[in-house]
Amino acid sequence: MKVFVSGVAGFLGSHLADAFIHRGHEVVGCDNMIGGDLQNLPEGIQFEEADCGDVDRMKPLLTGVDLVYHCGAIATEGLSVFSPAIIAKHVYANTAGLLAASASKRVGRFVYCSSMARYGHGKPPFREDQRAAPIDPYGIAKYAGELLVQNVCDTHGMEYVIAVPHNIIGPRQKYDDPYRNVASIMINRMLQGKQPIIYGDGEQNRSFSFVQDCVDPLLEMGTQKGLSREIINIGPDDEVTTINDLARILAELLSFDLHPIYVADRPQEVRSATCSADKARKLLGYETKVTLREGLSSMVQWIREHGPKPFEYHLPIEIDSPLLPETWKSRLI
Ligand SMILES: NC(=O)c1ccc[n+]([C@@H]2O[C@H](COP(=O)([O-])OP(=O)(O)OC[C@H]3O[C@@H](n4cnc5c(N)ncnc54)[C@H](O)[C@@H]3O)[C@@H](O)[C@H]2O)c1
Repeated sequence: MKVFVSGVAGFLGSHLADAFIHRGHEVVGCDNMIGGDLQNLPEGIQFEEADCGDVDRMKPLLTGVDLVYHCGAIATEGLSVFSPAIIAKHVYANTAGLLAASASKRVGRFVYCSSMARYGHGKPPFREDQRAAPIDPYGIAKYAGELLVQNVCDTHGMEYVIAVPHNIIGPRQKYDDPYRNVASIMINRMLQGKQPIIYGDGEQNRSFSFVQDCVDPLLEMGTQKGLSREIINIGPDDEVTTINDLARILAELLSFDLHPIYVADRPQEVRSATCSADKARKLLGYETKVTLREGLSSMVQWIREHGPKPFEYHLPIEIDSPLLPETWKSRLI
């Protein structure tokens, strides 16, 4: 099988590419390097530095491709409140470009990485048949991307599956990005002897998936015969944690004397974002194999090996507003 992965130099995309190469498939991928790292690229991949929204650049890369995974995105939900234009470009518009090229090249199946942000303030645990009600530009762009995937795929005869992952953790996650990846930010700060910064009271509920527990169901979504037109959550529903708990577990793993710095809530942050994994269990045989503590411990080990890094404010803030968290305005992270 020939597989294409957008955002392949990123965290999830590179692990997916690894998994397909490991199974003997041909893998082609692109990344525009807004957030990726070339060191993440697996050996044996055919890689091109390109924006997946660029239809003309995508068409030759998609020749003969059976299966597309669309992971390329700027996935900074919190920042999207202040930078809707760049997020829309690299979440929604790039999806349109990759879809156009995929349909034109008669790709068999398109797997789209959406986000839990599609559910907004919906009632947790989120279920796939719940009405999508995103509350920030990232969630809106992801959901709009879903509608486009459904429309273009149905019209042009491509199978599609929409994956809705939870917070994913694991090695290769960008840990010098101040705008996202709470666990990596905390680890990077603690390794620099700095206290973690927590928005609000830290009692926000989240679930975290270890990356391999996310890759396995994604493989199934791409390869299971006849699977199409499904929206499926990916994330554990058996281990819900708070941001305070997350900080405590990390402090234990790092033997760190914890006194978190609490700052004001972030605008539009969802209080409780947990999902049901019933559909994934039923359709994909999903199961959690790695516990939160094990996943965090492997992440700590990886970040330790690569060394702590200064945070890089690599994305523009488009709306300079009084709502902008001080952490970003004054670059406190
Ligand atoms: N990591 C999570 O917790 C999580 C949860 C839910 C959904 N997702 C989704 O999964 C996908 C992968 O996320 P990730 O955590 O690996 O993020 P990541 O930032 O590590 O990887 C995304 C990659 O996409 C690239 N990219 C951005 N815009 C692009 C474009 N226009 N063309 C080509 N490449 C582009 C970036 O350079 C980056 O390497 C994203 O769509 C994200 O929204 C991630």
